[in-house]
Amino acid sequence: MSEFTGNHILSVSQFDRDAIERVFSVAHSMLPYARRQKRTTVLNGAILGNLFFEPSTRTRVSFGTAFNLLGGEVRETTGMDNSALAKGESLFDTARVLSGYSDIIAMRHPAAGSVGEFAEGSRVPVINGGDGANEHPTQALLDLYTIKRELEYNNKGIDGLHIAMIGDLRYGRTVHSLSRLLCLYDNVHFTLISPRELAMPQPIVDAIENAGHRLTITEQLEGNMDADICYQTRIQEERFPSQDEANKYRGKFRLNQAIYTRHFQSKTVIMHPLPRDSRMEANELDNDLNLNPNLAIFRQTDNGVLVRMALFALTLGVENLVSQYERDVIWTTKKSS
Ligand code: NCD
Repeated sequence: MSEFTGNHILSVSQFDRDAIERVFSVAHSMLPYARRQKRTTVLNGAILGNLFFEPSTRTRVSFGTAFNLLGGEVRETTGMDNSALAKGESLFDTARVLSGYSDIIAMRHPAAGSVGEFAEGSRVPVINGGDGANEHPTQALLDLYTIKRELEYNNKGIDGLHIAMIGDLRYGRTVHSLSRLLCLYDNVHFTLISPRELAMPQPIVDAIENAGHRLTITEQLEGNMDADICYQTRIQEERFPSQDEANKYRGKFRLNQAIYTRHFQSKTVIMHPLPRDSRMEANELDNDLNLNPNLAIFRQTDNGVLVRMALFALTLGVENLVSQYERDVIWTTKKSS
């Protein structure tokens, strides 16, 4: 049992460095199951309520996949229009009902604070899969796990890291949660690059400064930075008052191999929470970066499954039982020769 068991995961502020290390070590132990070298039925009979009231591909599917990989079942609802919230039901009532059908709930909703409000009505643990522009704790944990793994190759740790965050830092919840997690570490250098109107919210800037970190704020990519991580983001068009407003910023921070070479080191790791907006007018991460070995975006998505498996195992108190319920994998995805 751990301090995670039976608790909601709503915000990165619940985590300290020890708790993060615990998540990372359990996540690492999930590798054989995520890679289908072994399977486990430790959550056989358990039900995840996967409630996504806002668009999602990887977060929703990776929560479901993570639960399935632990042997559990997934019940899902997607979109506001397909749920009773569209009939005026309160988050509290929805939580009361759905927590009667599930052992644990993952939820995404467009309003900041909504997942916390929902959790108050829930009789089972709730994991925040993103609440408006506010937080995205599981993404921040998988981003930090990725940073740690990527930097190991360069013999570096998270302490002393230089991260450049680029784009929509105002509405991007992933950079909010990741910045707050990084405040737990020492001597981080944040370079925040965004138009002034899309700057990082002041409470997070304050948190970075209060933690004693080095902070550089600029409106465009300048010179050659010694950044270890380049964290690109999407213009969060769905949170702007109008499409015209969002269009003003589209394409301002496109990154391709030539721009990368000009502004970053040859080892700078390229991250993005995805989806990358690949439309011509945005082209946040050009396809010519796909061959760049430092492009970590698909390692991030793979790591998301490990981290979400770890969070489920810890929250349901089975993190030490996973291998006891291990089975062989008897199928193959390889062509027979
Ligand atoms: C992000 C999100 O939804 O906040 N995506 C994700 O969960 N991987 C970022 C985004 O949508 O731009």
